[in-house]
Amino acid sequence: MKALEADAFLKQLSDQREAMWAKMTAERKSYGAEKPLTQDLVVRRLQFGVVMERKAAEVTAPWIAQVPDLDIQHSLSEYVANELKHCAILRGRIEELKGEPDALWKNPLKELRELWDYHASLDSFCELLASVQYGHEEFFPRTSKSFIQRVEPIDPKTASIYRDTLLADEEGHEWLAPEALRRYALDGATQKRCLEALRKGCELFARAIESFNRSTPR
Ligand SMILES: [Fe+2]
Ligand SMILES: [Fe+2]
Repeated sequence: MKALEADAFLKQLSDQREAMWAKMTAERKSYGAEKPLTQDLVVRRLQFGVVMERKAAEVTAPWIAQVPDLDIQHSLSEYVANELKHCAILRGRIEELKGEPDALWKNPLKELRELWDYHASLDSFCELLASVQYGHEEFFPRTSKSFIQRVEPIDPKTASIYRDTLLADEEGHEWLAPEALRRYALDGATQKRCLEALRKGCELFARAIESFNRSTPR
């Protein structure tokens, strides 16, 4: 693939991501992703969050030493710390609700394990950033919005954790992946691998979400 200008490359990545989002949105209702919540479902959703937050940190951390520029390296370290902080907050909330914080962490759904095994197997931090942070993590504010609306009436504290901490921090690091990709994904071969990683990552994410929803009581 011939190298693209940074703007055109980022546009291809986001077009690909939005196509995956459209597909996923069309499927979400069919497997009950928007069903009314019960306390048990809230705990289950928080347990899913524990895996997502901790794994995002774990697959990113090993790449920090490879980042050439100090500003990106510093921000990526803060990103990792933030995701681990989110994990700790979610675990705390599950304990308050008398659930088992690490139920899914210790015994992940097959599709959830495949998602994170894939990310751990990538060959460069550009591919990882394209797939996780510029890819399916961009869906988090969208799916959270619907979750917050549904959880607010039965559990305002959990709604507040999502709205005031998790989403607020998310906004703070949204700039990081596009800026790093702009700087480091310069040649055609790397860009092509990033596009493939984003496509595959979003596909595995959609499967993990579906599997998670199908695993919860109807
Ligand atoms: Fe997070
Ligand atoms: Fe995040």
